[in-house]
Amino acid sequence: MKMKSALYLSLVLVGLQVQALHIPNRSGEQEDQDTPHSPAEGENLAYLKIAPSNADFAFRFYKQVTEEEGNKNVFFSPLSLSTAFAMLSLGARAHTLSQLHTCLAFNLTELEEREIHHSFQRLLQLLNDPHREVQLSMGNALFINNELKLRQKFLEDVTTFYDSEAISSDFQNSEKAVNEINNYIKTKTHGKFVDFLQNLSPDALMILINYVYFKGYWEQPFKSFHTRDDDFFVDAKNSVKVKMMRQSKVHNIHRDEKLSCWVVEIPYKGDVAALFVLPDEGIMKQVEDALLKDTVSNWSQSLEERPIELYLPKFSISGSYDVKSMFIKMGVTDVFSNNADLSGVAEGDRFMVSKAIHKAEVDVNENGTEAAAVTMIELHPLHGENCEPNSQGRLGQSTFTP
Ligand SMILES: *[C@@H]1O[C@H](CO)[C@@H](O)[C@H](O)[C@H]1NC(C)=O
Ligand SMILES: *[C@@H]1O[C@H](CO)[C@@H](O)[C@H](O)[C@H]1NC(C)=O
Ligand SMILES: *[C@@H]1O[C@H](CO)[C@@H](O)[C@H](O)[C@H]1NC(C)=O
Ligand SMILES: *[C@@H]1O[C@H](CO)[C@@H](O)[C@H](O)[C@H]1NC(C)=O
Repeated sequence: MKMKSALYLSLVLVGLQVQALHIPNRSGEQEDQDTPHSPAEGENLAYLKIAPSNADFAFRFYKQVTEEEGNKNVFFSPLSLSTAFAMLSLGARAHTLSQLHTCLAFNLTELEEREIHHSFQRLLQLLNDPHREVQLSMGNALFINNELKLRQKFLEDVTTFYDSEAISSDFQNSEKAVNEINNYIKTKTHGKFVDFLQNLSPDALMILINYVYFKGYWEQPFKSFHTRDDDFFVDAKNSVKVKMMRQSKVHNIHRDEKLSCWVVEIPYKGDVAALFVLPDEGIMKQVEDALLKDTVSNWSQSLEERPIELYLPKFSISGSYDVKSMFIKMGVTDVFSNNADLSGVAEGDRFMVSKAIHKAEVDVNENGTEAAAVTMIELHPLHGENCEPNSQGRLGQSTFTP
C-alpha cells in the first residue's frame, strides 16, 4: 500500500497532541507501584479528568482555525493554549471566568474548579518526568511589571498548580524586558523561537507564558538513502516538491471505510506515538468535519499491525495565531474588553487581556520529530484610550516549508 499523495499534515499533528496526552500512563504507574489501590492511584490519574475537555477544546480550536485559514496547513498546540488560559482563569471572576470555562470545554457541573487546576498540576508533573525516553517538557512563567502587586492567593495558586515562575521585570525599560522574555522562551524551547515578542504594549503590566517542547526519535528511523525528491499534494490541486522518506515496515494501521481514510500510527522511542491520517482523494473536508475526540479514540482502538510501504515527507510547519481574535469568535469576549473581571490577579488595578498570541513549530525528519509551542498572554489596564479595538487580525499564516 502506498501512503502518498494528499497526506494531510494538519490532521496528523492534532493526532500527535492527542496521543501525547493519553500516553503518560507508564510513568504515572511507576510512581505508585507500592500502593496499587490506594487513594494515591486516583491522585496519579487525576490528569485524566481534564483529558476529554482538552481534546474537545483542541478540535474546536482546530475547526475555528481551518474556517479562517482554509486549505493551509495548520499546526498549534492545544495543550499549551488550554494550560495558559486555565492558569489565567485562576485570576478571573464572574462572566469572564465562565466564558473561559465554556471555551476550554470545562463543565463545572462535572468538574470542580479546584479539580481542574489540580489535574493540570498532575499533568505537568507527568509530562516533565525526567525518566521518560522522549523529551517532553511544559512550563509556565509570569513576567510582572515592578509596580504590579499580585494577590498572594493568585501567586500561591499559579506556583502550586502550574509550577509557574514569577519574574519581576521593569516594563518601563521595554527593550530589556522584551529581551528577558525572549531569552526565557528561547532557552525553554531549545532555540526554536528566538525573537518571539517584537514589543510590549506601552502600558503592559503582566505577561503570562506557557511553553511546550517535544523531541522524539522514531522507534524505526527512516534510512536517509531512501529519501527522494517527490511531489506532495498540499490540497486537491497544488503540489510542492519535498524530500519524501520511505520505509517498508510493520506498522499499526486502520482503514476507516465510513470516512474513507487510512490511519497510521508511527511510534517514537519511549511511550509516545504520532497518528497520521491519509484521507482518500477529495475527502479531506469530510474527514476534517468528523475529527472529534471519539473518532480519534475509535481509530486508536481499531489499529492492527500490517506490513506497509510508508511514504512520509520530511517537513517543517509553523503556525502563528492571533488567539485573541479566535477566542472572541469562540465566545470569549469579556476578558478582552472593558468588561474583564480579572480581580483575582492583583489588588487595586483593573485590567484586561491586550494580546494573546500562539506560535508553534514542528520538524519531522528521518530520525524523528522536534516540536515547540508558546502561548503568550499580555495584560494591561482598563482605561479610556485602550477601549479602541486592538485586533490586528491574523498575525501570520501556517506555512509549509519542505
Ligand atoms: C496503562 O497501563 C496499563 C498497564 O500497563 C495498560 O493496561 C493500559 O492499557 C494503559 N492505558 C493507556 C491509556 O495506555
Ligand atoms: C454539563 O454536565 C451536565 C451533567 O453531566 C450536563 O447535564 C450538561 O448538559 C453539561 N453542560 C454542557 C454545556 O455540556
Ligand atoms: C466509535 O465506535 C463505536 C463502537 O463501534 C460507535 O458506536 C461510534 O459511533 C463510533 N464513534 C465515532 C465518532 O465514530
Ligand atoms: C539522524 O541521525 C544520524 C545519526 O545520529 C545523523 O548522522 C543524521 O545527521 C541525523 N539526521 C538528521 C536529519 O537529523
